[in-house]
Amino acid sequence: MTSAEHFDRWYAERVESPAADELVWRMLGLPPGLQSTSLLGGAGLDEVVAILDPRPGQVLLDLACGRGGYGLEIAGRTGCRLIGVDFSAVAISQAKRRADADFRVGTMTATGLSPASVDAVLVVDAIQFAEPTLDALRECLRVLRPGGRLVLTTWEALDPADERLPARMRQLDLASQLPEAGFVDVEVTEKPDWQAIEKRFWLESLALDAGDDLAIQSMQDEARRVLAASDGRRRVLARAVAPLPDEESSQPG
Ligand SMILES: C[S@@+](CC[C@H](N)C(=O)[O-])C[C@H]1O[C@@H](n2cnc3c(N)ncnc32)[C@H](O)[C@@H]1O
Repeated sequence: MTSAEHFDRWYAERVESPAADELVWRMLGLPPGLQSTSLLGGAGLDEVVAILDPRPGQVLLDLACGRGGYGLEIAGRTGCRLIGVDFSAVAISQAKRRADADFRVGTMTATGLSPASVDAVLVVDAIQFAEPTLDALRECLRVLRPGGRLVLTTWEALDPADERLPARMRQLDLASQLPEAGFVDVEVTEKPDWQAIEKRFWLESLALDAGDDLAIQSMQDEARRVLAASDGRRRVLARAVAPLPDEESSQPG
């Protein structure tokens, strides 16, 4: 398991690196100031917002929110209320410094939120860290109101036996895991255009002079790992809906 302490160190390094954030904004086409620690670009974010479609006053949970950048951007665009949850206390304290929103320490399998208390859930580039995946998907379902929407972005292995990829990514299969967790209207879409942008991002990161910038050094390590096996994974956007009570009773098993 990739621990909260690992991510605490990662976020502590990242806050010292304006160069890392500048690279992300430039290469991913994100609004400057959006604090991303993932690879969801500006066009992808527009798609995600259109699917979630939160209304003013509705509650959006940004789960594994990191520094909260995507959730805050969506709240700013739509007028929804934001709850951000992440297991890294360092990320949550950095998020709180950005905005007076409801950021909390919690895990993907135990958010601490009440049942049916949110209208939409977003998990950007993080579900691959949840162990086990099904428990995290069931937690998303538990906190969503009936009819509420879930959107996830992540990567899946083309071949689950491909040992170049982390085991946690090889066991992801959202097209079967989302219905198994109890979701309906599940759609998992491959995003080759996002993957092409990511490849350019990783190549550009390797062209930087890292010097003593720990965040850029760690980005370059990741770039080498990802590029060595980038033909073995697909970029995916998954969407699903929490069933209404009459749909629940018609679910198999
Ligand atoms: C690649 S970052 C993405 C962060 C954020 N969603 C974004 O897009 O900027 C993955 C995030 O998942 C969080 N994370 C990993 N495992 C977690 C878990 N089991 N529970 C809660 N958060 C977790 C990490 O702390 C990190 O913030």
